[in-house]
Amino acid sequence: MPGSSFGRLFTVTNFGESHGPAIGCVVDGCPAGLPLSESDIQPDLDRRRPGTSRFVTQRREGDRVEILSGVYEGVTTGTPIALLIRNTDQRSKDYSAIADKFRPGHADFGYFSKFGVRDPRGGGRSSARLTAPTVAAGAIAKKWLRETLGAETRACVTRVGPVEFPVEDWEVRERNPFFAPTANEELITRAEALLDDLRREGDSIGSQLRIEITGLPAGLGEPVYDRFDARLAFALMGLNAVKAVSIGEGFRVAGMRGLENNDEMTEDGFATNHAGGILGGITTGAPVVAEIAIKPTPSIRKEQRTRNTAGELVTISTTGRHDPCVGLRAAPVAEALAALVAIDFALLSRSQLEDLS
Ligand SMILES: Cc1cc2nc3c(=O)[nH]c(=O)nc-3n(C[C@H](O)[C@H](O)[C@H](O)COP(=O)(O)O)c2cc1C
Repeated sequence: MPGSSFGRLFTVTNFGESHGPAIGCVVDGCPAGLPLSESDIQPDLDRRRPGTSRFVTQRREGDRVEILSGVYEGVTTGTPIALLIRNTDQRSKDYSAIADKFRPGHADFGYFSKFGVRDPRGGGRSSARLTAPTVAAGAIAKKWLRETLGAETRACVTRVGPVEFPVEDWEVRERNPFFAPTANEELITRAEALLDDLRREGDSIGSQLRIEITGLPAGLGEPVYDRFDARLAFALMGLNAVKAVSIGEGFRVAGMRGLENNDEMTEDGFATNHAGGILGGITTGAPVVAEIAIKPTPSIRKEQRTRNTAGELVTISTTGRHDPCVGLRAAPVAEALAALVAIDFALLSRSQLEDLS
């Protein structure tokens, strides 16, 4: 289907449905000679996996990745890398009651309007389950960026509804159920209470994430149409439920003065990083910083009005297993998307600037 491929030199083509036999992707254009095995990819899939805490969907997928091609004796061969993740915990009957109804806020109406047919089981192709192959491809990109450029891609949750998490310690985000970069127990407890209440009420909540790429060289990105920030925003906007993307100070620049927003240059580099590491669409060597806003999970138990495929007015209440805050599993996906953008620009830069003689 058009729209299932991403990237120009490091390309990812994603396939599958939420309740089909398997999902996966084909990564083409990965440089040869990168040491690669399933164990390089599995940790990121485990970070995105459902069922890891009581605050995310209880679907129990192992999400074991299998590398089917493109690796020989532990290193990439430069040929297409096919990655397969089998679906093992589908409960398609959960969807029988809403198979002919459009869930408010979900993709059902859009897909039906466009194709006239849709796979309602688990949202079919519109399911965020299809972000797992993105995470797998992103793990390869992250490894190449780390080993070739010393660059790191990371994301954390900075807000769950009214609860804001300050960015204090990136490491602790791996040790709390919110991917929050803070060890502040009071904030974690407030978020826990909020999500427990929402689960009882059958409602959901939005969230905000911060993404950073550190260690990228200056000079990645193209003038005019192919700005690094434009490609990054495109990639992050492509993630399910993302409704806003900002770079550096983002929307805050509207209230700032030039003197405050400009990043002065000193003998130690940029004194500040309001620009989020990109000027004129080209990386400056400072950390690339983006933020995304993620909407509340559309599938909620609370009853709402909608229509069915026959056009009749009906009501809907979505039961089954859904995340009350989808942003909690989005950080590994956002990292992967940012890494895919970065590796593509890095390879493009190599193709433009490297002397072939
Ligand atoms: C990690 C992740 C998990 C998600 N899980 C669910 C879910 O369990 N139930 C649901 O209704 N939507 C879920 N979503 C959101 C839907 O996939 C998304 O809202 C839907 O495809 C419509 O697309 P749109 O919101 O971009 O318009 C999830 C999104 C992400 C990023």
